[in-house]
Formats: sequence, C-alpha cells, structure tokens
Amino acid sequence: MKIAVLPGDGIGPEIVAQAVKVLDALNLNLEMTEAPIGGAGYEASGDPLPADTLQLAKEADAVLLGAVGDWKYDTLERHLRPERGLLRIRKELNLFANLRPALLYPELADASTLKPEVVSGLDIMIVRELTGDIYFGQPRGISTLANGEREGVNTMRYAESEIRRIGRVAFDIAMKRNKKVCSVDKANVLECTELWRQVMIELSADYPEVELSHMYVDNAAMQLIRAPKQFDVMVTGNIFGDILSDEASMLTGSIGMLPSASLDANNKGMYEPSHGSAPDLAGKNIANPLATILSAAMMMRYTFNDELHALKIENAVKKALAQGYRTADIVTAGCKKVSCSDMGNAVLAALN
Ligand code: IPM
Ligand code: MG
Repeated sequence: MKIAVLPGDGIGPEIVAQAVKVLDALNLNLEMTEAPIGGAGYEASGDPLPADTLQLAKEADAVLLGAVGDWKYDTLERHLRPERGLLRIRKELNLFANLRPALLYPELADASTLKPEVVSGLDIMIVRELTGDIYFGQPRGISTLANGEREGVNTMRYAESEIRRIGRVAFDIAMKRNKKVCSVDKANVLECTELWRQVMIELSADYPEVELSHMYVDNAAMQLIRAPKQFDVMVTGNIFGDILSDEASMLTGSIGMLPSASLDANNKGMYEPSHGSAPDLAGKNIANPLATILSAAMMMRYTFNDELHALKIENAVKKALAQGYRTADIVTAGCKKVSCSDMGNAVLAALN
C-alpha cells in the first residue's frame, strides 16, 4: 500500500509527522513517500503542485496531506498561491466527495463554546462536493469594464451528473447510519441549487428507506448552532460545505479535531485535517495533531477498507483524551496540557 505524504505549509509538517508515527506503528508495511505541496511546492520548484508531487499522488493508493497556505504568499499571482495547489490536486485526482465528520468526543463537551447539552452525543457527517461549484466554474476572473471600473466574476455551476454522484455518496453513507439526509441549498434564490434540489429528490426514489429533507443554507447555518443533533448526514455543494464544515467543527470543541476524506469514484482518497495551516502556530510544536491522526483512521476505513485499524486509531485517540491529554486548543481545567508531538506520543502509547 503506497501513501503519498504531503505535509505542506505552516503546522502541516508537525501534525503530519504525528500521523505518520501512528501509521508506522500499525506495522502494515505501508510505503510512505514525502513530497512538497502548497508554499513548500512553490519554494521547491516554483509550482504549488509540482509535477513530481502530482505524479506521486497519482501513483499512490492514498494521500495524506497536512495543510497549505501562508500569508507570505498572498501577494503571489493567483495560480502560484498554495491554495491553488490544493484545489488542483483535488481536481486532478477527481476527489469529488469530501467527507467531514463532526463528532463530539464526550471528554471534550466542555471545550465547545456551546452548552454541553446542545452538543453532547453529536455525530454529523457533512458530505461536501469538492470539484465543482463556484470554486471551479467558468467564467471567472477580475476584468475592467468599459467605464474603467473593475469587476470580479465567479460562476456557480453544477451539471446534473455531478449532483447525482455526490448525492449517491450521501445516501449510501446515510444507509449505514441513521438514514437521514439533509440536502443544503439556496434554491429560493440560486437556479444552480434549484437543480441541486430537484436531482436530490429524483435520487431519493432509489433510497426509499432514507428520509430526505432540504434546508436553505442560511437556515442550516443557524440550525447547526441552535440544535445540531437534528442532523445525521448533510450533503451540499463546494462553497456551502466549506463554510458549514468550519462551523460544525467548532461544535466539537476545536477545529483541530475534525478529520476529512476526499474520495474519487473508486475510493482512492486524500486525507487531511479540515483545518488550515495556521502559520501563527507553526514551528512551535503546539498544534493539535488529532484531526490529522483521525484522517489516517479514515484512510484505513475508506481507501484500505480496514475497519479494524481505523477503529484501533480512533480508540487510541479516545484513550489519550480519556487520560486527560489536551493540546492548547482543547485544554480545560484539570487536564494535562501537552505539545503536538507529546499528543502524538500519547496516541502511540494508547495504540499499544
Ligand atoms: C478547506 C479549505 C480550502 C477550501 C482552501 C484552503 C482552498 O478551506 O479545505 O476547507 O476552501 O476548500
Ligand atoms: Mg475550508
């Protein structure tokens, strides 16, 4: 089993090192090869997605990614910026299905900014479409109008087939969970998402056991804070999913806890924490590696079909939390505040 390891920028290398440690400890003969992406790719070869990195990722069975981005690249031309490397690798590998589980570990109920009774027992799966929508739609760009003022353009667009395939992913996942899908759109205003809703309704005929509901994205943002436990699976487009998954992550105490899987049609996947590169925390060994370690567990589950080792990693994380280990972002009174690498060690110890 070949894994391309792409640490990226900011805290990426520190958190990825912890996940690599955990994967190594499984003794599964995983062949892990590192390559630069994002700002690191730009530094190495002038391209946020170097050709060699893309090649490695294409040949691998799975990709483990840290995070990309640093403010120091914000002045680069857009196609050279770190984020472009991430968007391109998603598109090149056809990773259209982004799974972002928001799961509250009971030990962290106090770390959430919401009341424990609102979030305890929370278990939501956000299914975000990842290779379409306003992120990739043409036309796009900044141009100058006839009157001399500038205009910025992006285009929200979805082909029916793109909606249907992400819908299937959501319905299939719901079948293994509580059989509820909430499709999030803005069908009252945007035609693109009116089509989204129609296709979801058509698709639901194939899943008579699943209860499909629809919610406008503004209401969904509100409901996630008001009563998040009403949700089982949420399915939505790229931009709405980007925003709602950040929101959902905070229900769980910290965005540092939220893993993700980005899958193609054959379950080849890229696994990354849902959080960013946090350049302000980089190099200090204080970041939370758990989202990345939990992403490695998702890799076991979704790409390698190895539920046993997925659970092994997840249980080790639970044990480390139960033992009171906390990185700075999730520390509460009475817990042991540890560094990024010590949290990795705590998970490693719990694994054995
Ligand atoms: C995410 C990130 C990315 C996105 C950025 C870094 C391009 O916010 O994975 O959610 O918008 O998809
Ligand atoms: Mg995001």
